[in-house]
Amino acid sequence: MNDRIVSGKPHEEDHNLDTNLRPRNLETYVGQENIKSTLSISIQAALQREEPLDHLLLYGPPGLGKTTLANIVATEMGARIKTTSGPAIERAGDMVAILSQLQENDILFIDEIHRLNRVVEEVLYPAMEDFFVTWVIDKGLKARSMNLALKPFTLIGATTRYGMLSAPLRDRFGSIHRLDFYNPPEMSQILERSSRILEVESEIEGIKHIAIRSRGTPRVANRLLRRVRDYAQVMADNVITEPISLNALEDLAIDELGLDRIDVNVLKCIIEKFDGGPVGLDTIAASINEESDTIEDVYEPFLLQLGFIDRTKRGRMATKRAYEHLGYEHIPSSTLQARMKL
Ligand SMILES: Nc1ncnc2c1ncn2[C@@H]1O[C@H](COP(=O)(O)OP(=O)(O)OP(=O)(O)O)[C@@H](O)[C@H]1O
Ligand SMILES: [Mg+2]
Repeated sequence: MNDRIVSGKPHEEDHNLDTNLRPRNLETYVGQENIKSTLSISIQAALQREEPLDHLLLYGPPGLGKTTLANIVATEMGARIKTTSGPAIERAGDMVAILSQLQENDILFIDEIHRLNRVVEEVLYPAMEDFFVTWVIDKGLKARSMNLALKPFTLIGATTRYGMLSAPLRDRFGSIHRLDFYNPPEMSQILERSSRILEVESEIEGIKHIAIRSRGTPRVANRLLRRVRDYAQVMADNVITEPISLNALEDLAIDELGLDRIDVNVLKCIIEKFDGGPVGLDTIAASINEESDTIEDVYEPFLLQLGFIDRTKRGRMATKRAYEHLGYEHIPSSTLQARMKL
């Protein structure tokens, strides 16, 4: 179900778009102000000391700009960046090979770092801490281990699942940043920049509707923009006006908060089948025929952000706001319990 238009996860078609629209420096990177200011200080300090930057971990839902930020850090540091991903490194030897090829001050970017397997991860510990790797040569009785010195480098890890990172790995990052969903004015700013790059004229009112429906996620915003651009081109002389924008978004069946059919199904399931919850994630997943991982990674963060779901120890609950948004009458659970006793 990752091909939903409002999914933060990349689609095949996003690849070129992502590359073209990616900001190249901190100045053009919109939002995430806290992260930007801390990073900017760390970068200047590291440059002054002529040392590599501390290892950096970026986490947050898909499409919020982790890969973009990693590349920007490299640019700002004037460093080379080598990009790989957790599942791509299968054996400890592969990790050793990657690390030993790094030059001084290079950046190694490992995307989906939570998917590294344990043996590969263990190679990283001494590499991150003291810039060496332990390498076992020969087999059986002749086996002995050798330490191989590495050039000082910076590891940037990105993950959508912070909780799945092991504690020893987490502890070895000098700084850890969580990317947040963007607010509507920031989304508008991103969309204005993207329309300029895509050479389509846009009116503020037109952009605003896309911004609100983009779930605080730049990747979704850019994807919606591309669809709306088609409408603008065919119907309005290449200008994204308010009616054009509304017309296109309505055709795409995204409601005024950016929810699509599956988000609505998740909420309806909790409300209709489980009286608003609490209900376990696996049970919701089974009832709507989705994987629980997908619900947790893709749908839930945004529903939590909107305040439509509460995560309690006993499971997920739909909030009053969710009831109201979907047009249900909200009966507080205390009233419900009292009624049941009658
Ligand atoms: N702060 C930003 N300002 C402007 N555009 C942004 C920003 N963050 C992300 N984008 C746009 O969103 C697209 C997706 O960002 P990016 O690929 O960095 O996300 P990601 O967090 O790495 O996602 P994933 O978890 O899927 O790897 C980029 O191509 C870029 O155009
Ligand atoms: Mg990425």
